[in-house]
Amino acid sequence: MLVNATEMLLKARDGHYGVPQFNINNLEWTKSVLTACEETKSPVILGVSEGAGKYMTGFKTVAAMVSAMVDSMGITVPVALHLDHGTYEGCKACIEAGFSSIMFDGSHYSIEENVEKTKELVALAHAHGMSIEAEVGSIGGVVGAGEIADPEECAKITALGVDFLAAGIGNIHGVYPANWKGLDFEALDRIHKATNNIPLVLHGGTGIPDEMIAKAISLGVSKININTECQLVFAEATRKYIEEGKDQQGKGFDPRKLLAPGAKAIEAKCKEKIELFGCAGKG
Ligand code: 13P
Repeated sequence: MLVNATEMLLKARDGHYGVPQFNINNLEWTKSVLTACEETKSPVILGVSEGAGKYMTGFKTVAAMVSAMVDSMGITVPVALHLDHGTYEGCKACIEAGFSSIMFDGSHYSIEENVEKTKELVALAHAHGMSIEAEVGSIGGVVGAGEIADPEECAKITALGVDFLAAGIGNIHGVYPANWKGLDFEALDRIHKATNNIPLVLHGGTGIPDEMIAKAISLGVSKININTECQLVFAEATRKYIEEGKDQQGKGFDPRKLLAPGAKAIEAKCKEKIELFGCAGKG
């Protein structure tokens, strides 16, 4: 059964570790992430962007597939199915489709409009027993350029009853440019102090050095999102398989064989992150 992400994140906040959000793209991806989390006994949040949802033919397909896989695979750790960077309409669609958690990304609206829409979606999500994440200060790479969130705006959004908050602290989605200045820990500290100990979310987890992750966790981050890093290891392992001509040996073209090295690479990457975030054995 899917659970919302509130309890696992409050436990992480109080226990000073991070829960991973691994984004999923298809059945193989989901299987790899769930296998890694079950083997390490880690709670997990499966992130689905609107684009990935569309790719998998719609949110209803995703919810049905993930729920059935959790059941068929005998998963015992808490699993939340979460919309990543949702629009207002996307959030409503995921509530209908059977997700257990949503993120409303209103960071590109004025703060007044972000407050208004977030407030409505908080009431809707909670009426369905779902958790909700909101965003202040664009995270670079999706809609903005890696802003630093204003603590007062963060406090306004937190006061609406959101369960966890994504606040920009110089983080960017995708691979960081060579001249990236790093996370702004002073900003993180100010945001943490202004937001009543709400679990904070670190987007753009790919490529953030390990010591910065540890420091972010110590300053109130309880959820860390990883997407690109799994895509990179999947592509690298698949490329190697094909370049070695393995798809042309015997039945190496069988998708169950062709996709296996990539799937294994995702599993290994997830285990590495679980170790780093300190969430092994917490599920
Ligand atoms: P990366 O792709 O940089 O790992 O970021 C993932 C993310 O934050 C999803 O919202």
